[in-house]
Amino acid sequence: MRVLVTGGAGFTGQHLARRLVAGGHEVTALDLLHPQVHPDPDGAVAAFPGTVTVADVADEDAWTGLASPDAVVHLAAETGTGQSMYEADRYHRVNVDGTALAGRFAQERGVPLVTASSRAVYGEGRYACPEHGTRVGGPCCDAALPVASTEDDEHRPVSVYGETKSAGERSLHALDVPVTVVRPQNVVGPGQSLHNPYTGVLAAFLAMLREGRPLTVYGDGHQTRDLVHVADVADLLAWCLEHPPEAARPRVLNCGTGVRTTLLDLARLTADGRPEDSRGPFEIAHLDVRRAGDITHACADLTHLAALGAPLPTRSTADAVADFVAHAWARPGAAAAAWDGALDELARRGLTG
Ligand code: UD1
Repeated sequence: MRVLVTGGAGFTGQHLARRLVAGGHEVTALDLLHPQVHPDPDGAVAAFPGTVTVADVADEDAWTGLASPDAVVHLAAETGTGQSMYEADRYHRVNVDGTALAGRFAQERGVPLVTASSRAVYGEGRYACPEHGTRVGGPCCDAALPVASTEDDEHRPVSVYGETKSAGERSLHALDVPVTVVRPQNVVGPGQSLHNPYTGVLAAFLAMLREGRPLTVYGDGHQTRDLVHVADVADLLAWCLEHPPEAARPRVLNCGTGVRTTLLDLARLTADGRPEDSRGPFEIAHLDVRRAGDITHACADLTHLAALGAPLPTRSTADAVADFVAHAWARPGAAAAAWDGALDELARRGLTG
């Protein structure tokens, strides 16, 4: 297959492209090479195993001159939860208009589309308690515990980012080509941006460890995330391409490990991944803040994936974090102060509580 990957020069896109080429497919990319993510755009283009067209997915003209592929994978997106709360127009443009245009392109060329949405569409997700049963949208009382999200859970986004991902999904409902919507949890692994202080707690922890600074944990650190290895995400996306759905409606798939990790455990896993000669004690600094748009708990239910015979993840979160740190430790990245700056910016705008 000739596969067009939007956002192909990015973290997940590069992994997917290599995975597809290894499987005998050809790839091209449509990517803006946004400076917030790509400090070395030429290096990103050189690393992609195919031609990269540098253009904005939200720009209609970007799509018109493209050669017809056999399938499209749409990964290009703005991904910062906090930043989305004050750059709403930009997030809407890229994530909603860009997704609608990707859908239109797939439809016009008559080819299947696989698109990355996000678990952010679930917002706080489902909770269960012995007294009140289950409820979507946060806990009903102190006894309630979070439950993994299933694909048919209601959309209850609490960030602009989550809203744009939900609206992007809706824009694909009327297409009559095979569509798969994948909802990744927090994707981690080698190659994720170390320069983008608007996203990614793991890159923040890494920068702080390298500078011998305490790791800033917002709140008590008992929040949980489902952190999935980028190679497992690439495997799932490749499977989706190779097994397009027959149904008229989009097929929706979760993408995660199904295992929760607390932020405190994540801090420890990141510290454990340091090279042996840098593995001293480390400290955690709890900051009494909550970013607007943040959720407390996230975890994917993988039952539907298993029932379809789609590949389940083969790497643990611990492996994913270890691979990330081993790859990133000696590479250039933003200073830890950049994450302080991003948080200050949110505070100035009244977006921390
Ligand atoms: C992430 C993704 C988003 C994805 C979503 C799905 C990234 C870069 N963003 O958002 O694209 O769709 O998961 O679940 O992965 N935190 C700290 N200290 C810090 C920085 C952050 O404690 O220095 C906390 C945050 O408040 C939050 C948690 O870490 O509770 C995770 O934040 P972050 O890594 O930015 O990702 P998500 O908002 O979960």
